[in-house]
Amino acid sequence: MHPCPGTPTPVHSTVTETHVITTSGLTKVYRSRGREVTALDGVDLHVREGEVYGVIGQSGAGKSSLIRCVNLLERPTSGTVTVAGQDLTALAGRGPRAGRELRRARSRIGMVFQHFNLLSSRTVQDNVELPLEILGQAGRARSRKALELLDLVGLADKAKAYPAQLSGGQKQRVGIARALAGDPKVLLSDEATSALDPETTRSILQLLRDLNRQLGLTVLLITHEMDVVKSICDSAALMEKGRIVESGTVSELLATPGSELAAALFPVGGEATGADRTVLDVTFHGEAATQPVISQLSRTYNIDISILGAAIDTVGGLQIGRMRIELPGRYEDNVVPVGFLREQGLQIDVVGQESLLVKEGAK
Ligand SMILES: Nc1ncnc2c1ncn2[C@@H]1O[C@H](COP(=O)(O)OP(=O)(O)O)[C@@H](O)[C@H]1O
Ligand SMILES: [Mg+2]
Repeated sequence: MHPCPGTPTPVHSTVTETHVITTSGLTKVYRSRGREVTALDGVDLHVREGEVYGVIGQSGAGKSSLIRCVNLLERPTSGTVTVAGQDLTALAGRGPRAGRELRRARSRIGMVFQHFNLLSSRTVQDNVELPLEILGQAGRARSRKALELLDLVGLADKAKAYPAQLSGGQKQRVGIARALAGDPKVLLSDEATSALDPETTRSILQLLRDLNRQLGLTVLLITHEMDVVKSICDSAALMEKGRIVESGTVSELLATPGSELAAALFPVGGEATGADRTVLDVTFHGEAATQPVISQLSRTYNIDISILGAAIDTVGGLQIGRMRIELPGRYEDNVVPVGFLREQGLQIDVVGQESLLVKEGAK
């Protein structure tokens, strides 16, 4: 992982990181009844091996289109999709032989759906066996695999039950077991927890996290719930109108001044008490103590500092603290104190100073 001594360390290395899912310039235009809808508008996505990557965005942003293009359930209009080193777009629509290869590649991409998509006439075990049947695997190996997977998802005792006899959470566990049948390297999840109550959501997310760790499974999940990203994602992207507008590891995002995703992942409230005030969000990681810094600041510059809000939380497995403070005077009057805080290694976002944020972000 370490570059040779003397070579500058690239910030975003493409050489030393293995991306298991890559899309380049991915577009999807739906045409129906003379109307055109651009669902994806040039999406470059890079998902590293072994990570849980969350794509978040409002309804209609293009999340489902993206995930369906990643496994070629939907044919991209243009652009490429590479999964585990294989260019899937090159295989699509190139005759029966390439078609077979595509099916094989796709069988190694697990997919989990919001509404589970189980067959009601089949038992739990038979649902899990279905993809193996399609792959032509023999009966005995198939049932052994299915029982193993049901055990893995905590449903060993439900093999003979029918979907209608299961709770929502149990149905999704079956959906996950079925998705794992082809020993996939990647698991795609389209709103897998959106139909579940909060407690069941937590247990399903925990299961996905466990599978990610135990099997080294890369998970690409899409969601409209920030809590999902917060609890299990290593990296995240924000989608708006068919484009990715922000992306990075959770810690990169939290360290990006003005990041919308960071603010949504870790909101801290508090309004300015007057017009002539400077409001700062101070972000610190792990054990860093802000309290002494704040009182030092107050003593050094002889200013009164109010704390408008504060929170400590775990985001993407990192302990993060954020404090919103208010200094008397406008930003121009506080350039020196802000510089002092930055010198202490604290991340400072100036609230409500868009133009300054951009300038400061470039520092
Ligand atoms: N099969 C389709 N035919 C026509 N338009 C579609 C189709 N699927 C999705 N769309 C449109 O594409 C846009 C993105 O949809 P989608 O990918 O489902 O977003 P999301 O999952 O973020 O809600 C929406 O405007 C939606 O109406
Ligand atoms: Mg969707």
